[in-house]
Amino acid sequence: MLKKLALATAIAASMGANAADQVEVLHWWTSGGEAAALNVLKDDLGGNGVTWQDMPVAGGGGEGAMTVLRARVTANNAPTAAQMLGFDIQDWGAQGAAADLNDVAAAEGWDAVVPAALQRFSKYDGKWIAAPVNVHSTNWVWANKAIFDELGLGMPLNFDQLVDALDAIQAAGYTALAHGGQAWQDATLFDSVVLATGGVDFYRKAMIDLDEAALGSDTMKMAFDRMAKLRSYVDDNFSGRDWNLASSMVINKEAGMQIMGDWAKGEFLNAGQTPGEEFLCFRFPGTAGAVTFNSDQFVMFAVGDDRQSAQGQMAKAVLSPSFQSAFNVVKGSVPARTDVSDADFDACGKKGMRDLADANMNGSLLGSMAHGHAAPAAVKNAVYDVVTAHFNGEFSSDDAVAELVAAVADAQ
Ligand code: BGC
Repeated sequence: MLKKLALATAIAASMGANAADQVEVLHWWTSGGEAAALNVLKDDLGGNGVTWQDMPVAGGGGEGAMTVLRARVTANNAPTAAQMLGFDIQDWGAQGAAADLNDVAAAEGWDAVVPAALQRFSKYDGKWIAAPVNVHSTNWVWANKAIFDELGLGMPLNFDQLVDALDAIQAAGYTALAHGGQAWQDATLFDSVVLATGGVDFYRKAMIDLDEAALGSDTMKMAFDRMAKLRSYVDDNFSGRDWNLASSMVINKEAGMQIMGDWAKGEFLNAGQTPGEEFLCFRFPGTAGAVTFNSDQFVMFAVGDDRQSAQGQMAKAVLSPSFQSAFNVVKGSVPARTDVSDADFDACGKKGMRDLADANMNGSLLGSMAHGHAAPAAVKNAVYDVVTAHFNGEFSSDDAVAELVAAVADAQ
């Protein structure tokens, strides 16, 4: 009898310990490269006795994940942490659903090492509510090196040269541009095209200040014309295709290039490829010197006392320098702290780190509209709708400009 009681007590204690050591994490990292990066986090936490309860919600850009998250919080069942982008973090801060991470932040010295451009999103009302895990950027092109070599193509430096390269790839019988027709992917192209067409000041005015004159300008019309031009290089089956399948087309030499954020690099690496050998990375032609960034952050939700210790451990782990290097090397992103060495990063990662630091210094670090760092969700979704309808031929470029002005005004 005594033995039985002791056993029951031991089991109960171990169950209690398990619950307390667990983090439940909601995220949209479901592709091969993303899962590999996530494993770095799971292993890191596991090594510190924290177990991982996975809550994946597929869909790049995180729209699906945000819908599930809202339902969970409404049902009073918030996860320990949720992957989140930019303005969405601020929305949750305003709703008072997030935990206060100021103690961890102070103990770990986050204020001194996390770039101000990220802190602007991680903190609400002076309080740290999210731990940034990385910095991605959207103005990248990923190219198949064998195709470029075969056709004698160099790195295109402006839009005309990009079009020449796409023409040559198409003429050789490949899909010139690997793309998935989903609103967030179309919008990801739009980040680059707007920046290349109008430059840094124009991007800031139109996408961040939401200036009506910039949104309705001839420059914006030209950006839409260029989107239509890019549309002519995708294959017939592009509708609805996931972004990682588009990456696979470049990896497998079916397509010449993909215009996508640097999470695409995670797919190339996961397929065993190396930059400069099987694939090339370069900034979207005409955007060199500027960076349209987004940062994945883990918003920590207010949870019961029993779950706070594991939550604090996760917050601390996410921003530790060694983890920031190990994770971002695999993910394709760059560290969310300024003091991490680039020694373990490949050529694209090193370039990404340099570009970020330079853009930060030169005032050309711009929040990505497509990935939630230029404007709040309502505006972002309004832009998605117009960009995607135009990409699919529903609007002329003139109509798209007028629709964009109206939709952005309505959404504010
Ligand atoms: C996130 C990336 C993710 C990508 C595709 C972006 O919004 O920032 O971490 O890999 O979506 O899922």
